[in-house]
Amino acid sequence: MAQTGTDIEKAKALLIKGELVAIPTETVYGLAGNALEPSSVAKIFEVKGRPQFDPLIVHVPDFESAQKYALDIPEQAAILAQHFWPGPLTLLLPKKDIIPDLVTSGLDTVGLRCPDHPLTHKLLETLPFPLAAPSANPFGYVSPTCAEHVEEQLGDKIAYILDGGPCKIGVESTIAGFENSLPIIYRLGGITQEQIELVVGKVNVRTHSTSNPKAPGQLQSHYAPRKKVILGNIDDLLKQYGTKETGILSFQHDFNSSLQFILSPSGQLTEAAQNLFLALRMLDKMPIKYILAEPVPDVGLGKAINDRLRRAAG
Ligand code: TXA
Ligand code: MG
Repeated sequence: MAQTGTDIEKAKALLIKGELVAIPTETVYGLAGNALEPSSVAKIFEVKGRPQFDPLIVHVPDFESAQKYALDIPEQAAILAQHFWPGPLTLLLPKKDIIPDLVTSGLDTVGLRCPDHPLTHKLLETLPFPLAAPSANPFGYVSPTCAEHVEEQLGDKIAYILDGGPCKIGVESTIAGFENSLPIIYRLGGITQEQIELVVGKVNVRTHSTSNPKAPGQLQSHYAPRKKVILGNIDDLLKQYGTKETGILSFQHDFNSSLQFILSPSGQLTEAAQNLFLALRMLDKMPIKYILAEPVPDVGLGKAINDRLRRAAG
């Protein structure tokens, strides 16, 4: 079992020694290590069971610090950082040599993000290095949105979990890169496409890639529970699958089942996002074979939720 608490000094001491610490962010919990130290970065891949072709996001306390790790930052990137940092937006930027190749899986860009969580912000400000951190779950599984989720799956592999309570956004950061200095969204997440477009105008969304995905978050099966997820109209699916051993993940509607999770009875997308990964974990533990799930309204945060549901359904 990992120790869990709010002791920033302890987290700092462990990280300086090269150990891994789980950290809270506004999106999901991260599995963090010294981003400038290849042996710490290697531990992250090992503990997470993550293939080394899947690059890690580097967490920084502010934009000034991001400039230490990225070169030739496009103007649009600086504007986006100014608007949305600290917050759930990761920017893919040309990396400086100080970032080990292991972090970026040999790519010449690094994903930089300034998370919006008071404990982690304080930790990042006091550390002499940035933190590489993927979501703190075994590769391919649902991301953790509270300290207990981290403990359940990685507790015996890490020394400390910095407990910052439940994550207020609940889905991962939006990932944006740049081509000819123009932004492209590679992963839909906590900052919506609409929010980004208000600042920089129309952007392309490229969240699928058949070969050599730019972001393995683009893989078609990811964020998946063990139970089979089937996405569609729940009434129709119930006719096909029956109610026995069938779990239901609905947006707002009550299907009067003891094997259901309603993401937001009042129909709020922010609440649905906060509950999404918890819901998948809870349904995964129920005595069921299938999880019948319905898409949520495809606007704002709903797009990120639907993206995760589609990938959970593989
Ligand atoms: O909200 C988040 O982003 C959370 C918290 C902990 O910050 N982190 C997170 O990390 O979701 P992870 O590793 O689970 O997902 C990061 C995604 C991966 O799909 C990875 O392939 C992509 O970001 N990525 C990282 N660096 C990249 C790069 N240089 N180029 C393309 N994709 C990159
Ligand atoms: Mg992840």
